[in-house]
Amino acid sequence: MELRYVSYEKRDGVAVVTLNRPERLNALNRELLADLRRALEEAERDPEVRSVVVTGSGKSFCAGADVTEFAKSAAEVREFIELGWSVFEYIENMSKPVVAAVNGYALGGGFELVLSCDLVVASSSAVFGSPEVNLGIVTGWGASPKLVLIAGPAKAREIVMLGETLSAEEALRLGIVNRVVPPERLLEEALELARKFTRKSPSAVSMAKTVLNRSARSLLAPGLELERSMFFVAASSEDAREGIAAFLEKRKPRWQV
Ligand code: COA
Repeated sequence: MELRYVSYEKRDGVAVVTLNRPERLNALNRELLADLRRALEEAERDPEVRSVVVTGSGKSFCAGADVTEFAKSAAEVREFIELGWSVFEYIENMSKPVVAAVNGYALGGGFELVLSCDLVVASSSAVFGSPEVNLGIVTGWGASPKLVLIAGPAKAREIVMLGETLSAEEALRLGIVNRVVPPERLLEEALELARKFTRKSPSAVSMAKTVLNRSARSLLAPGLELERSMFFVAASSEDAREGIAAFLEKRKPRWQV
């Protein structure tokens, strides 16, 4: 399997999938998303693999969608968003459990990747957030409806409407994260958690995952659909053009009033 932006290795029944674009803080571009999908498909297909750990190389887990993808044509933006959706839905529909090992920033699409995983281990220095409003857009890969359910409406508003970030400890308190560990223990602790699944019945684990994820989805479906369509409305707005240009030009945005 040839992968450019993701690395893949097997360790005692666990597939370790590492986002590997550290010079851009593992921001999700099309190629990275396609590589991630291929690595996950390999893990799902391989009978020796019983669970998966997803992590990031360098100082961040993932700083979200690559903002340059939003500076493309409307059709290309739509394709990119659909690709992201298909990858995150794939994680939720995999028969094998996926553990996120979060080092550094997990922002925007990086946070949404975390929210698609089954369990989350965070380094004590991890930072979570949905900064889309700062770019003149809204979340598009599930964060808003999921946060209402997980963190509750009050906290979801702070995160989504103000773009406030969360520390690892706060994410633990809110039920977004399962464990917080020292940075140097992150991968080992995530692997230990993932290895617990290798001692369980694969079919029972898979059925349990299906029930949990379908239960959440049955509550979330209308919100997810609305978020998806609202993303495309926001992405075609004047504020999105300005917010994205301002990020790329490293300046403050000037919003429409
Ligand atoms: N898309 C594209 N490029 C990104 C990116 C993203 N989401 N996140 C970071 N990068 C780039 C930076 O522009 C920078 O590029 P440069 O070296 O050419 O200047 C490089 O990755 C390193 O990031 P930098 O900003 O220098 O790191 P930092 O530690 O100072 O700041 C963040 C880290 C996460 C606070 C900051 O990079 C950031 O705000 N990123 C955008 C997060 C975001 O809005 N994500 C949601 C997108 S919808």
